[in-house]
Amino acid sequence: MKAILLAGGKGTRLRPLTLHTPKPIVPIFDRPFLSYQIGLLKQLPEIDEVILSLNYQPRRLEETFGDGSGLGMRLRYVVEPSPLGTGGAIKYAAKGIDDTIVVFNGDVMTSVDVAAVVALHKARKAKATIVLTPVDNPTAYGLVETDAEGNVRRFLEKPKADEITCDTINAGIYVLEPDTFDRIPKDTPYSIERGYFPSLVERGETFVAYVERGYWIDIGTPEKYRDVHRDIFDGRCPLGPAGISSGQPVVAPDAKVEPGAVLEGPCFLDAGVVVKAGAKIGPYTVLGRSVLVEEDARVDGAIVWPNARIGRDAAVGAALVGRSCYIGKNAEVGPQAILGDKTTLSDFTKA
Ligand code: GDD
Ligand code: MG
Repeated sequence: MKAILLAGGKGTRLRPLTLHTPKPIVPIFDRPFLSYQIGLLKQLPEIDEVILSLNYQPRRLEETFGDGSGLGMRLRYVVEPSPLGTGGAIKYAAKGIDDTIVVFNGDVMTSVDVAAVVALHKARKAKATIVLTPVDNPTAYGLVETDAEGNVRRFLEKPKADEITCDTINAGIYVLEPDTFDRIPKDTPYSIERGYFPSLVERGETFVAYVERGYWIDIGTPEKYRDVHRDIFDGRCPLGPAGISSGQPVVAPDAKVEPGAVLEGPCFLDAGVVVKAGAKIGPYTVLGRSVLVEEDARVDGAIVWPNARIGRDAAVGAALVGRSCYIGKNAEVGPQAILGDKTTLSDFTKA
């Protein structure tokens, strides 16, 4: 069985972080995002290949994951000539496949039991099975109504406030039968949410819902990107590095915390991090590979990508700090700041 990960979006809402790092590989703690999804798919022994459906910066993803041997899963890259939308991308990536396919939106973090979803799909002999999750406000998602037997009765993408009839939304995880792809036009943009799913309902095909009540989040905005780290620290999301939800600092073996530096848990320091004497790392801080925090600097809940340097006496709130940034001496960075890669803040700057 094959899986397709839709990883072609531009991640506009996460700019500037996604200017040089496509959304599917933004780091969550010490790993690129998609490695969590591939971890979930590995629970299903039938899946022998994961196809990454791409069009934006495909080389960056190939450089990150290669043939997948580092992850223990065979990977194949399918690059669209131009963005084909979610439905067009699935059809394009599924060329030549006639067996059941598992599809993931490339930006959802979840603990769903994929094997149970596939088992339901097979037991119900469904044409399509979709994972749903309850949310407070469905307007940013695909609203999905079901009947008492768990069949999908209505799919409405990005409903207006007065169109909301239930709290279950499309979680972006599907099991699909390729013999239904004939309705997806070839080589033109087509939305699976606005076209294919409503057409299954209209034609009365077996379209089944699997409601997931465990952890689920779409990481596509800065707020959600922050939330997913907090949720992992607080144990609401059962993924992430070993021991991460213990409330204690988790420090990679070769990170260096000088005597006189203070770490307040929960926090995470990846390999090669150096925290100098007098510096203080507050709760919910994530320091990526080889980040340097100089004497007496304070970092309070920021997510700092690899190779950034935080100068002496600087104070960084719960900001998002891109790769290789330099925050000058005594600079102050507020909790709402989002600094793109290689941003340089001169000494005493307030951002
Ligand atoms: N290959 C490819 N080509 N991938 C694409 C394209 C494309 O043209 N357009 C979007 N994608 C990928 C994105 O990278 C993302 O992983 C996924 O498809 C969904 O696109 P988003 O842009 O993130 O959509 P959304 O978050 O507004 O809504 C979708 O996800 C919600 C759950 O998070 C919809 O599927 C909603 O129905 C759903 O509720
Ligand atoms: Mg999304």
